[in-house]
Amino acid sequence: MSNAPPDYDLIIVGSGIAGLYAAIKAREVGLSVLLITKSSIEEASTRYAQGGIAAAVGAGDSPEKHLADTLKAGAGLVDEVAARILCSEAASRIADLSRFGVQFDSIDGQVNLGHEGAHSQPRILHARGDGTGLEIETSLSQLAQEKLEIRENTIPKKILLKPDSTGSQLAVGIESHNTLTGITESISSRHVMLATGGAGQIYKVTTNPQVSTGDGVALGYHAGAIVTDMEFVQFHPTALVLTDRPVFLISEALRGDGAQLLNDLGDRFMGRYDKSLELAPRDIVARAIVEESINTNKDHVWLDITTKTTEKSKEWLFARFPQISSVCEDAGIDISRDLIPVSPAAHYLMGGLVTNTYGETSVPGLFAIGETACTGVHGANRLASNSLLETVIFAHRAIDQIIDPKFKETIIEPVEPTYSIPSIKLTQNGSVLTASEIKKEIQNTMWAHAGVVRGREGLELAREKLEQLAKYATNTDEISDYETHSLLTVSRLMIDAALRRTESRGSHFREDFAASSENWKKHIRYQQP
Ligand code: SIN
Repeated sequence: MSNAPPDYDLIIVGSGIAGLYAAIKAREVGLSVLLITKSSIEEASTRYAQGGIAAAVGAGDSPEKHLADTLKAGAGLVDEVAARILCSEAASRIADLSRFGVQFDSIDGQVNLGHEGAHSQPRILHARGDGTGLEIETSLSQLAQEKLEIRENTIPKKILLKPDSTGSQLAVGIESHNTLTGITESISSRHVMLATGGAGQIYKVTTNPQVSTGDGVALGYHAGAIVTDMEFVQFHPTALVLTDRPVFLISEALRGDGAQLLNDLGDRFMGRYDKSLELAPRDIVARAIVEESINTNKDHVWLDITTKTTEKSKEWLFARFPQISSVCEDAGIDISRDLIPVSPAAHYLMGGLVTNTYGETSVPGLFAIGETACTGVHGANRLASNSLLETVIFAHRAIDQIIDPKFKETIIEPVEPTYSIPSIKLTQNGSVLTASEIKKEIQNTMWAHAGVVRGREGLELAREKLEQLAKYATNTDEISDYETHSLLTVSRLMIDAALRRTESRGSHFREDFAASSENWKKHIRYQQP
């Protein structure tokens, strides 16, 4: 790259809540910003979020109580400093979202707070009933389109690096490829921010949209950034999984409003697993559902919200959960009188690119926010509705850091040992497997062997399979090949970490090591040499 001034102060990759919020904030403080997204501006997993955003804003609640719940859910691996920031700065960031046009549901002028699993209080702000993500994505993308330079259908092929005077590599831009025009170009910037969301598409059954292919984690890893906690994937306990339709999330907010889980014998089983019943942490509920399904020879259990119809009205229920009631109705299920078949689905990646509390990765100039990052606030298991919150908290701090004339140095401590998996040698001349065939194989393999319950044998089989599949990954400008490369990178990191962690903790459950071990109160980190 030349010595000319960079094209932008900041390039942001990704257009979910994290990228949009950061971009709007960055423009507000006068930074020049380019936002790129591989799909259309509104297509991000934020759009599909239902439950809401947690914040201790209700009477009788406090950031301390929110923190206590966050620490407990995270099963010993939460970074307390980061989590304290998360809980104590929540109210200010909610105020930002309102200022940016997000309208949270309220009753008589008071914000209407929902309840979700492992929260000691109702503290979930929601919008349009169960359409919180849709409201946020629509409001922020509208504002972004008024204020920002946006390039859609643009994939970030790689992060451009340049050595500084000490020899360390700095992020100085991206190489992008527009999938509509076919143009590949290098765009320079003072900072690069990855906000591409999660990687649910590595699994056959996921609540995540097609775009969630782990691109940010893969890009960061290939640029030399440290990655951690990849074994921790949250499986949402209740998804509607029907053969003829896309997997659809059935929000935990239903259980917060009193929905009960029944097995196929009509038995309300959660009492046998946790005293918090249906509002136990997600990993406990997900495993209980798997066990009850196996015991009753079914592939699902039932979620029953029909009791609410007798207590309130069908109109109330349909207004509180407009998306869920409508999708279920389409599938022939009237949630006011029918039971909903539910089973777990891959939902959220707790791991990601290690960042400090200003969103900085271990590569200078490279930031990561949202699900792409691992700030440490979720530990081994994320507390419900802390994910949307995390995006805005750390996006805000990252922009503050970028504009601070005295850049606050918070170094990411090196932790030993740090492992590495070799990068994939992409085939140049065509392959016997198409990208979509490889993707399908990854999804089936990961679902079979790295799901809610894992064990050494299955994980080793998965590792072998992924190494085979990696031989067929092709280096073209097709988006499907690009995504396959990301999926393979993320899956291989995940399998390696899941094999190394010979204990069970939070969302990572090993049938061959069912207990937690004090020796494992630590993180597994990776860095490409
Ligand atoms: C849900 O609505 O159940 C999902 C919310 C979340 O993932 O935190």
